[in-house]
Amino acid sequence: MSENEAGVGNAEGAGRVAALEKAAVLDRFARHVNPQKVRVLKAAGLDILESRREGAWVYDSEGRKLLDCFTSAGSFNVGRRHPRVVEALKEAAERLDHGNFLLLSREKADLAAKLAEIAPGDLSCVMFGTGGGEAVDFALKLARGSSGRPKIVHTVNGYHGHTGFALSAAGRDAFKSAFEPLMPAFVRVEFGDLDVAETAIDDATAAMIVEPIQGEGGVRVPPPGYIQGLRKACDEHGALLILDEIQTGFGRTGRWFASEHEGVVPDIMTVAKSLGGSLVSISATIFTEELREFLIPNPFIHLSTFGGSDLACAVAMTVINVIEDEQLVANAARMGDLLHAGLEEVKARYPDTVLEVRGRGLMTGIKLSDDSMGPRLSFNLADHGILAIYSGNEPSVMRIMPSLVVGAEEIGYVVEGLSAAMADMLAGKGPAIEASRRERRRPARP
Ligand SMILES: Cc1ncc(COP(=O)(O)O)c(C=O)c1O
Repeated sequence: MSENEAGVGNAEGAGRVAALEKAAVLDRFARHVNPQKVRVLKAAGLDILESRREGAWVYDSEGRKLLDCFTSAGSFNVGRRHPRVVEALKEAAERLDHGNFLLLSREKADLAAKLAEIAPGDLSCVMFGTGGGEAVDFALKLARGSSGRPKIVHTVNGYHGHTGFALSAAGRDAFKSAFEPLMPAFVRVEFGDLDVAETAIDDATAAMIVEPIQGEGGVRVPPPGYIQGLRKACDEHGALLILDEIQTGFGRTGRWFASEHEGVVPDIMTVAKSLGGSLVSISATIFTEELREFLIPNPFIHLSTFGGSDLACAVAMTVINVIEDEQLVANAARMGDLLHAGLEEVKARYPDTVLEVRGRGLMTGIKLSDDSMGPRLSFNLADHGILAIYSGNEPSVMRIMPSLVVGAEEIGYVVEGLSAAMADMLAGKGPAIEASRRERRRPARP
């Protein structure tokens, strides 16, 4: 056997071993976590085991290199395992741990002050949590607790997490109906329709909660003036405006927070995801000093053992510094423009398939002509080296949300890969049609 043949043989052997190892993991996952999750992900070509993670890229267990355009629904704004963030975690682990949650800490105080500095307007007080749902839960508790009013207005296809209050504000019944009755006095209105929101917001309303751009709802940018109109309607009735920036925050849309595009300052803002820099779990509910009054006689009314742990706060501080130092907000705006232009080109090439290009900055999506195309396109994108997952609440929308560290070369790679994946999908390549039909009948969240 020649050296070359031996090399090919070794590569084939390694490939077989990797495939066997992957099959074993899938089998264990199916047995001990959920077999249906494995089936759904397989059907969309997303039975990917992430291996090496590096900046804008991820490698699967079989050595395939993929540009990460899902980024855990916008959680990796500084890229994956950013060297400075990894270093911050190592350094923090040398001297810190979670810390005693009832005590004060330098890390919590410093991060709270930094969040107050970058948050819009007069948002200056912080409650830490571990994840997005928890941040939303506290936002809604604070709204009810401080106003003494019960009613919460939220939106169709809105997504705020799966914890108690947050789930009650979910805009999709598939997530909720098995658990009814949830919290009372939650009223759902169409997203983007100011008239219905103005009718729903009244003197019994504690708050309206809304994403400035719906993420899971299919990267929906509301009509101009919508968020400003909500601000006005809330003010007229003494209700609070809660903006959920868990997906849109930390530069994703080309501004630090998406509300800045509208010049609107909410009363409460929730953040999570990218704050953890792909390495730790942390969230924050950021609110005005006026609302903090509610917590003065009740300083222990909302507690979280791991919320804002010292370790996580130290890492999150570095994440914000990286966004500042590397000017990632401006980069998201620039690369977002480039990506939008590229997606428009793809739309022009496939006008019957791509109905709309949506989004702002690097929070983008394309609306496809039918629901089954979400999984079929995810499948073909993975084949072309792009990890992208269709929207949970609108499977016909493919989200393209790379990390904010991408450059023009990566944007070109996405546009080219998307075009090629589209051609393959339209040529019939992809998961069995039957599989995607079955997929469509169940909650289509991969
Ligand atoms: C806008 C928004 N709010 C809240 C959440 C829930 O966050 P978590 O999954 O960390 O609870 C998400 C998650 O995708 C989200 O996109």
